[in-house]
Amino acid sequence: MHYFQYKNNRLYAEGIPIEEIVDQVGTPCYIYSQATLERHYKTFDQAFSRIPHLICYSQKANSNLALLALFGRLGGGADIVSGGELYRALKAGIPPERIVYSGVGKTAEEIHYALKEKILLLNIESPEELKLVNEIAGRMRRKASISIRVNPDIDPKTHPYVSTGLKKNKFGISIYQSLNEYQLARSLPNIHIAGIDFHIGSQLLDIGPFREAIQKIKKLIVQLQNMDIEIQYLDLGGGLGITYSEEEPPHPKVYAQAVLKEVGPIPYTLILEPGRVLVGNAGILVTKVLYLKKGEEKNFIIVDAGMNDLLRPSLYGSYHHIQPVVRRVRTQIRADVVGPICESGDFLGKDRTLPTPDSGEFLAVMSAGAYGFSMASNYNSRPRAAEILVHEKEFHIIRKRETYAQMTALERIPGF
Ligand code: LLP
Repeated sequence: MHYFQYKNNRLYAEGIPIEEIVDQVGTPCYIYSQATLERHYKTFDQAFSRIPHLICYSQKANSNLALLALFGRLGGGADIVSGGELYRALKAGIPPERIVYSGVGKTAEEIHYALKEKILLLNIESPEELKLVNEIAGRMRRKASISIRVNPDIDPKTHPYVSTGLKKNKFGISIYQSLNEYQLARSLPNIHIAGIDFHIGSQLLDIGPFREAIQKIKKLIVQLQNMDIEIQYLDLGGGLGITYSEEEPPHPKVYAQAVLKEVGPIPYTLILEPGRVLVGNAGILVTKVLYLKKGEEKNFIIVDAGMNDLLRPSLYGSYHHIQPVVRRVRTQIRADVVGPICESGDFLGKDRTLPTPDSGEFLAVMSAGAYGFSMASNYNSRPRAAEILVHEKEFHIIRKRETYAQMTALERIPGF
């Protein structure tokens, strides 16, 4: 459920017509609904209320400070993958003891930064990383609290670019080698073994792979106990899918029930890293129709947002529903909705049937809150879009539209 609904044929974000926002802010712009974000967070949180748990919002889905601060206020933490994401989480007021850090390529500087800030856990993804963390912690006269990110070798049955828990993927340490890794961790003087972690992929529409992964991890936990290694945290990663079109992902309650049943009574804290499920349907991208171009084979609705603003359709062939911001009775047209970027792969939707739009009118690209702005770029030297947060009848610009000057501010022309 989200709060983008038509009233008298005008699309609203909560209590404000979208048109009113874009008249002031311009397009393209991302618009998020605070009520939706809160509702999604609380639903997810309550689903796990039976046991000690920590929700570490996976900020790669959308790392705007306003969203991080909102989840932080609701009691959430952050799942981060870079020094930049750590900086954002701290700047948004998320306490370090609610931050977990995954990623196959953490640099020495990033590890140092994370240890200095005393985050909850580093999720270790290779033996070399583990040794480096030990070395850096030693130099800092600290003990580093770690989880081992285990790759459980599970097929999440999702897009190959977003499945992460298969043997052939670069993530984590193979479940078959993980006992050795824990042994190594135990032998290192500056490492404190605190947990076990996995993440099998994103946009999962079925509970099965989560259950299978937990079953494998539970066996591993028993083996660890036999070696006198006790963990305090079990991190299940993220990955729960959402509805873009006709998908029917499990409701967070169903997901939580299945997970809790599989996990059983546990003496440790569960960590969850949801991204998409919290923010995906809480945001839309609003774009203006520039031209309607009727071709011999195809019609094109050319809009002012492109693959630099929303990469998912181009990169994964993902579907995002596109609908008019103002509904009127019109003849329908079948067309590709394309952006202004100089690439044939620059499209937001293919072969869509839409009410024939006039140039100057606005379209809403739905379910764009996750991996939308966070994957945006300046390709073709297009300034990045503005971001707006709506709260009932108010809205706030949570990121200004970039200017040309800002886009080139870091560049220098050398003297030679
Ligand atoms: N934890 C880890 C370690 C992750 O790598 C990810 C996502 C998450 C949590 C959050 O997963 P979520 O709950 O959002 O599914 N750009 C792609 C998605 C890439 C996901 C990468 N990892 C897309 O637009 O579909």
